This record gives sequence, structure tokens and C-alpha cells, in this order.
Amino acid sequence: MCGRSQRPAVLLRGKSPVPDASFRRMHGVMRSTRRSFIKTATAGAIGYAVLRDDAIDRVRAAVTNADGASPASLAGDENFWFQVQQAYDVDRSLTNLNNGGVSPAPRVVLDAMRRHVQFTNQLPSRHLWTVLDPQVETVRGRLANAFGCDAEELAITRNTSEALEICLYGMDLKRGDEVLSTSYDYPRMLNTLRQRALREGIVLKTFPIPTPPDDPKQLLRLFEQNITPKTKIILVSHITYINGQIFPVKSVVELGRRHGIEVIVDGAHAFGHFAFKHADLDCDYYGTSLHKWTSAPIGTGFLYVRKSKIAGLWPLMAGPKPNSDDIRKFEEIGTHPTAPRLAIAEAITFYESIGPDRKEARLRFLRDRWAKRLMRQKGVKLYTSLDPAQSCGIATMSVEGVTGGQLVEHLFKNHRIVVTAIKHEHIDGIRVTPNTYTTLREIDRFCEAMQRVIQDGLPT
Ligand SMILES: Cc1ncc(COP(=O)(O)O)c(C=O)c1O
Repeated sequence: MCGRSQRPAVLLRGKSPVPDASFRRMHGVMRSTRRSFIKTATAGAIGYAVLRDDAIDRVRAAVTNADGASPASLAGDENFWFQVQQAYDVDRSLTNLNNGGVSPAPRVVLDAMRRHVQFTNQLPSRHLWTVLDPQVETVRGRLANAFGCDAEELAITRNTSEALEICLYGMDLKRGDEVLSTSYDYPRMLNTLRQRALREGIVLKTFPIPTPPDDPKQLLRLFEQNITPKTKIILVSHITYINGQIFPVKSVVELGRRHGIEVIVDGAHAFGHFAFKHADLDCDYYGTSLHKWTSAPIGTGFLYVRKSKIAGLWPLMAGPKPNSDDIRKFEEIGTHPTAPRLAIAEAITFYESIGPDRKEARLRFLRDRWAKRLMRQKGVKLYTSLDPAQSCGIATMSVEGVTGGQLVEHLFKNHRIVVTAIKHEHIDGIRVTPNTYTTLREIDRFCEAMQRVIQDGLPT
């Protein structure tokens, strides 16, 4: 059997294995891929020819060519980011500025996933459980390295919801015990606690946050002020989905520790978005989705639990040893596809090839490009601080007299631009989340469309 990483990404039946110019144009095949095409095609005994996507090579070459340039100076270098933009098969007749919801994956990730799905399908019971499942351990190690923890502390989940519900349902609480969070935390996580309130009589306490706060310490003070002797758990977002506010997580974790309170961190939007390691947070519990900012396949995420805390946390689905300190007890979810989990490896490789610092700087650069231009306009309100300590690629704005829902509809209907509506407490606006594949022209088109609404209102 050929090596799994060499299994066909693009298959051509019969005839010449060498693509002609028109084929290359049609399929976006660069000349530099030709050598690997010929090599693999010659080696292949199964009658297929292979084209390996070389996006990672091109991104790495761009990094080498950048010759030590700082992330900030590269953030606006279109030649550099062109290589990243080309790694994604996105439809440029649509402008996707809702990457915070869920992101597309680059071609290398999709190719890997396709290979794993095809291989699984050849003999599911054996290929899935005997061949592919053990390979998940490599991915666990890659993710642990990227997050900065021990591999024995990281469970691969389907998303943040699963990771955090393991924590939120998995801790014993008694009637009257309080869980503290903000009203800017994610509804599904808060609903988990509301369900526990209904079933078990626990109490969920939430408080609103300023949008934006003067400085992150204000957020810490709010947590401190709302703690009572009955508080047993704090749920805190690393970065909120509403306006992209980054929380002082490490300080909240320390606060919780001082009071004997477990702190669960919702990192749905943080991992793969801006550069940080576990040591920067020092938390005991962390959940994230990899299909948002890491551009991994849809249906991937992870849960971090500090080694000493694993035994005391109940799994969501019972396995043979629910009290064991093996992190894999949280992965007992029945039969599920291994393909998306294995393809996380390519997403991490792609992410690390760009470099977390460079990605963070670029996302901030793209955010500043639209936010600084539009926030100067009359009637525009920005709910996100542009202070790098408080935000990165996500920001939320509104236009006086126009609802977020109306803006979403107008932008899509008339410009094929996708953003998401945010209607929450005093905010009725849109959240804008570009990604590394977003071009400056796409940001500018969005600004031009918005400027027309700001000046003239919605078309009648
Ligand atoms: C802050 C936050 N937490 C949790 C989630 C849930 O993520 P998922 O749907 O990937 O489980 C989201 C989704 O947008 C989110 O924004």
C-alpha cells in the first residue's frame, strides 16, 4: 500500500500522467507541482496519477523569502498573503466575512480528509478502528504541542460545545451551588447550566460586561464582585463571540483558585486565532473548536484538562472507567469518523507554516482596515476595543437606524457579502470576521457597501 500521505489528492484515469497546460490552468496546478505529479504517477501501480497540493511548500517559501521580517511588517505585505489566499478554494464571487462562525479549510486539509474517508470506506470496521484510530495519537501530540500541554491532558472532541459540556455536566454540584459567568458567554454553554438549574436546583448567575471596557482589569473586578460563598464554578470566555473582547483569563483563573472555584475557559474563538500557550492562561479546563480559526475540518475541537483534574471530571458518555485519569475517557462517543480528526494534522501544519504571530498580526491588520475606516463615519458605533490586549480579528459594529438583521440581508442580497447579525442587550449590529484568505479588495468592497448604507440608508 502506498504511504497514506501519498494517496491521491487529484485522480486522473488513464492516458498521459503529465497534465497539459490547459489542465493545469483548469485545476490551478502550478508548474512546481509537476515533478511530484510525475514522481508519484510513475510510482503508482493502481492506474491513477497524483497531484499533490503544494500550498504548504509555497507558504513556507514565502516565510523564508520574508527573511526575518516582523509579523507587523508582514501583516500588510500582499505578496506574502497571496500564497495563503491561494491555498483555499474559496468562491471569490462571495465575500465571506463570517469566519468566526465556521471557517473553510485549505485544500491540503480537505485532500487529507478525502483520502482518509476513501480509505475508511474500503473496509470500515478494520480501516477505521484498527488502522486509522491509532493514528489519532499523533494528532493528539501535535495539538498538545501547539497548545503547550502534555498529550495526556488533551482530548479530541467534535467542537467546543462537546468539550465544555463535558466540564459543565461533569462536575458535581448540589442544590443552591452557584455558577458564575457573563451574559456575553455563549448561549449553548449558558443553556447547559440552565438545564442543570432546572434539573438539580443549581443557580446560574451572569453579569453584563461593558462593550468595550476601559481596560481588561474592569472585567476581572466584575468577576470578583459577583463571587459569593456559594460560587463553585466560573465559566469565562477567552474571547467572546459577541464583540471579540479578550478576557484576562489568567487573572480570572488565579481569582478562582484563591476562592476554591473551578474555572472553565471557553476558547471557541481563541485557539488558532491569536498566539498564546497554555502557560499564558494556566487554566485547568479549556475547550475550543478547530473548525473556526484553525481551519481544520468541520466537527473538530479539543478539551484540555489538567492531569490532576481528569479523574474527578465525569465523562459525558460513560465508558468502562469513568473515574480514571486517562484523558481518552472523554473520547468515548461511539462510532464516529476518524477522517476529520486525522486531517487536523494538516491544518496544524498549515497554521504553523504561516506562524501564529504572523496570523495574529494579519487578522488585526484586516480588522483595522475596515474598523478604522468605518468607525469615523457618523452614526457608526464600534463595540470592540482596538487595543491589541483586548481584541484581534473579531469586531462588532452598528449603524444608527439600521438593524443588524437588515444589514446582513442587504449585504448578502445586493453585494454577496456575508457577515453575521449580533442582537444582544444594547447591541443591534453586525460581527465582521475576515480570515487569512481574505483579500484587501474584499475588505474594501465591504467598506464601500457599508459607506453607502451609512450615507444614504438602505435602498428602498
Ligand atoms: C464563545 C463560543 N463558545 C462556544 C461555541 C460553540 O462552538 P461549536 O458550535 O463549535 O461547538 C461558540 C460558537 O460559535 C462560541 O462562539
